[in-house]
Amino acid sequence: ATQRTFSIIKPDATKRNLTGKITAKFEEAGLRVVASKRIHLTKAQAGEFYAVHKERPFFDELTTFMASAPIVVQVLEGEDAIAKNREVMGATNPAEADEGTIRKEFALSIGENSVHGSDGPDTAKEEIAFFFSELEIVG
Ligand code: CMP
Repeated sequence: ATQRTFSIIKPDATKRNLTGKITAKFEEAGLRVVASKRIHLTKAQAGEFYAVHKERPFFDELTTFMASAPIVVQVLEGEDAIAKNREVMGATNPAEADEGTIRKEFALSIGENSVHGSDGPDTAKEEIAFFFSELEIVG
């Protein structure tokens, strides 16, 4: 079925001017960008978004990184968008990512891994609502 998922192009990627190349990978996989904006999070906002990870040892590193430069937040729409997006991103750790995936091609490390994507339908809904109003999503 047609689904929506939430995607972030992270600071390591925006700094290296990879927004277009990463977006092209999603589009080539059949996903459509139905909402997109470039923003610069505060560390507090990054912490709110990643609240589920707040007990993890890497939480401080993660939120500092996510607030270190602009990010591009997007809503991607398409057939099985959640799984498709995860396939195109590749494994969280670039050392384990398959050939041709975004993280294999562009990610620098497990932290500076270029992209985030929702891990399921419930998180997709929550994460989209965190950044976008319905009016900003144009299918
Ligand atoms: P993301 O999909 O954005 O969700 C949580 C993020 O935490 C994950 O991608 C990684 O970039 C990051 N992360 C996971 N494990 C580590 C780690 N060991 N050190 C630093 N960052 C991590």
